[in-house]
Amino acid sequence: MDFHAIAQRAIGDMPPETRFRPEDAEVIRAHRDLILPLAEEYVTSFYDVLFAHEPTRAVFEEGERPEREATQVDFFRRIVEGPHDDEFFAWLAFVGPVHVVRQVSNPMMLAMLDYMVLYVMKKFRGHENADAVTEAFVRLAATLGAIISYGYEVAWQEALQNVVGMPPALVQRMVHEEAQRMFPLRSHGAASYPHPADGAPPRGRPVAWPVYFFSIHSASGGKATRSSAVKRVVRNAVHSRSESARPSAS
Ligand code: HEM
Repeated sequence: MDFHAIAQRAIGDMPPETRFRPEDAEVIRAHRDLILPLAEEYVTSFYDVLFAHEPTRAVFEEGERPEREATQVDFFRRIVEGPHDDEFFAWLAFVGPVHVVRQVSNPMMLAMLDYMVLYVMKKFRGHENADAVTEAFVRLAATLGAIISYGYEVAWQEALQNVVGMPPALVQRMVHEEAQRMFPLRSHGAASYPHPADGAPPRGRPVAWPVYFFSIHSASGGKATRSSAVKRVVRNAVHSRSESARPSAS
């Protein structure tokens, strides 16, 4: 994976107004004496939140918390101190796949980026530069989220390509075509959107394997492992003529 390219693509997809910019880095650095002492308390509360919620607690192994806290403190210091250069953003693209391996879902990740913003916002309430600091953290979190989630997406695609042994362009085309079939859009001539109460959209032909793979991941809340997904893909191939063997589209 080319982590520099992933980071640049993610940033490039963000409208400039939403990106973390040098002025934001300046604002954060200018308040470093107030922000840095928050690191330990912030990280303790961050993991209190994760450990109080069963799906996020389940990610962690026995006795792992101190090491995770130390990493997160370093990470927080790094985002305050900078430098916010290409290396930093490329490293964030690597943080995405790290979370794929540990089965941390993007909803978990994005929610905790919001938690970081809310934490800083509350701490700066009443401060004369509260708005500027909060805005800087909002754009920082948006940029971290864009890069990490895009790194996550690319890691999934590459793992999938390895599993099914298909070239990337073919996988992407198949996924796109299957998505168009599964979710017909009014803007593309569909009469109306199916109502959720109507159940799954009609199936004209077997679900393409890549979409099946992704649907296993989503249906399991990101819990399905690569090997369990592969097993199910193989099982479905064996029973490909049986409607009941196909995954639910809901
Ligand atoms: C604000 C959102 C988050 C950020 C910025 C973040 C950042 C990071 C970073 C920088 C690392 C170290 C990567 C490295 O080894 O270089 C890491 C590792 C890890 N994170 Fe997160 N993380 C976030 C959310 C989460 C959540 C929500 C979970 C779990 C529910 C989680 C679980 C883990 C685990 C288990 C590791 C260790 C990976 C390993 O085994 O090496 N993270 N994270």
